[in-house]
Amino acid sequence: MRVLVTGATGTVGRHVVTGLVAAGVEVRAMTRRRAGAGFADGVEVVGGDLGAPDPAVFAGVDRLYLFTAGKTATVLDHAKRAGVSRVVLLSSASVGFDDAQVGESHRVAEEAVVDSGLEWTHLRPGMFAANLLEWADSIRAEGVVREPHRAAAQTAIHEVDIAEVAVAALLTDKHVGQALALTGSEVLTKVEQAETIGAVIGKTVRFEELAPERWKAELPAEVPGWVADWLLGIWAGAAAVPETPLPTVADVLGRPPKTLREWATDHAADFR
Ligand SMILES: NC(=O)c1ccc[n+]([C@@H]2O[C@H](COP(=O)([O-])OP(=O)(O)OC[C@H]3O[C@@H](n4cnc5c(N)ncnc54)[C@H](OP(=O)(O)O)[C@@H]3O)[C@@H](O)[C@H]2O)c1
Repeated sequence: MRVLVTGATGTVGRHVVTGLVAAGVEVRAMTRRRAGAGFADGVEVVGGDLGAPDPAVFAGVDRLYLFTAGKTATVLDHAKRAGVSRVVLLSSASVGFDDAQVGESHRVAEEAVVDSGLEWTHLRPGMFAANLLEWADSIRAEGVVREPHRAAAQTAIHEVDIAEVAVAALLTDKHVGQALALTGSEVLTKVEQAETIGAVIGKTVRFEELAPERWKAELPAEVPGWVADWLLGIWAGAAAVPETPLPTVADVLGRPPKTLREWATDHAADFR
């Protein structure tokens, strides 16, 4: 069996490649920047952009891990014509609660996947633990995190857990036609998340509450205002009503999701 992994150089996609290789599957990894993609020997690396999908990339592919970007309907059309039978889509928990741009783009992608008539699984993760890499610079430099909504209590998920669920959905038949809502194992406030990272790297990490408007004003120029507002809305919601850990990862993988401590251990070098 050959699986095409799009978004293969990304946070989740890189681990999807690793998991498929470990399972003995042939992997074709697609990237817009083929040079230096750094995959294991045996992975076929192909140039490609989801914004301008090339039908040739899908030749000989049986199953597809699909990152939501670019022209999803065209990608699916090429995939179907090439004989791809199954698509596992990296979607988002935001399809369930967000009517704005993020939720809508994933909803449109999910609908296109279902409409394709191919076998499908939607992965709907909540907050990636990897978002906390945004804290790395200030933790390294000053041992501090500066953000609003210190009480926001979220169920951060390790990217490896999302990838392993993707691999299970690609390689077994159990999850065809399922939308899998994915969370980490525990609900932690931002202060507890910062403390967990501190405990792993052996450094006191303080959380300094910032007013939302000040945080927004200090964001890099490339972060759009609507993204900042979207995040503020999520954090305010999670401060008012803590998120709930879900059993899905354990149900699919037969083991609990990785803890934030495990995630921070895997990424300790980023914070030291
Ligand atoms: N962060 C969260 O908390 C969270 C939560 C739920 C869902 N999600 C969803 O998860 C996805 C992000 O997953 P990820 O972090 O694994 O991905 P990622 O690391 O952001 O990107 C994956 C790869 O996709 C390629 N890519 C990015 N934008 C592209 C574009 N416009 N056109 C074509 N290729 C593009 C890039 O590879 P090349 O440069 O090599 O081509 C990139 O390395 C998003 O759809 C996001 O909405 C995120």
